[in-house]
Amino acid sequence: MDNTNTPFISLEAVSKQFTSRTAVIEILSETDFQIRKGETIAVVGSSGIGKSTLLNIIGTLDKPASGRLLYQGQDLFALNDERLARFRNSQIGFVFQFHYLLQGFTAIENVMIPGLIAGKGKKTIEKDAANMLERVGLDLRKTFRVEDLSGGEQQRVAIARALVMKPDLLLADEPTGNLDQKNSESVHTLLNDLNKEFNMTVVVVTHNNKLAEMMDRKVTLRQGKIVAA
Ligand SMILES: Nc1ncnc2c1ncn2[C@@H]1O[C@H](COP(=O)(O)OP(=O)(O)OP(=O)(O)O)[C@@H](O)[C@H]1O
Ligand SMILES: [Mg+2]
Repeated sequence: MDNTNTPFISLEAVSKQFTSRTAVIEILSETDFQIRKGETIAVVGSSGIGKSTLLNIIGTLDKPASGRLLYQGQDLFALNDERLARFRNSQIGFVFQFHYLLQGFTAIENVMIPGLIAGKGKKTIEKDAANMLERVGLDLRKTFRVEDLSGGEQQRVAIARALVMKPDLLLADEPTGNLDQKNSESVHTLLNDLNKEFNMTVVVVTHNNKLAEMMDRKVTLRQGKIVAA
């Protein structure tokens, strides 16, 4: 845990609406949320309530209509797009609800992408990617094209890709949604280990009670606010 009083991440009065032709739906309504360095948090809430939208905002992929997002006191949306993209690639790991792997590429190539974007050396990138695929139990699937993998295997490739840069922050949207109990448990262990090994902060949206119970705290999204669950 960081000893400073500045939270690692802070959402201040963040609001977000979506507008269709017939309605405006309020997803976040002047909500505040503070995350400490090294903390693990489960986000729960009913379907369509805005959990994925919240993760996208925390991960700077989506902008709030109003309010601020601070990383260690810095207003990220004040950065230009290029600097923001660089920050995101090196500091934040995403596991999306729908994993968005690059079709036509192998598992290891997908996991190598963040390192390539960051301009790291090829040998290191390859070693790190292979190591992370082993940790999610895919050592024998490294050179398979992702479209030839099962749904759960693809999800594990996405988890490996999110973790390969050892991000300060992992945002994971239903990371075990497609996994059986054994593979879910190995993902739980991996998240726990990485949290302990290098103080990775974890925010995970999950319906998996076992995973939620392992987190330091659990919050619910309800009526546009983030509240203790
Ligand atoms: N780009 C968009 N344009 C319009 N409406 C959107 C957009 N993205 C999300 N929404 C709407 O916002 C609401 C919240 O969506 P979100 O995906 O954040 O929910 P969720 O809590 O993650 O749901 P689930 O548990 O089903 O994944 C939904 O009603 C959705 O239809
Ligand atoms: Mg969602």
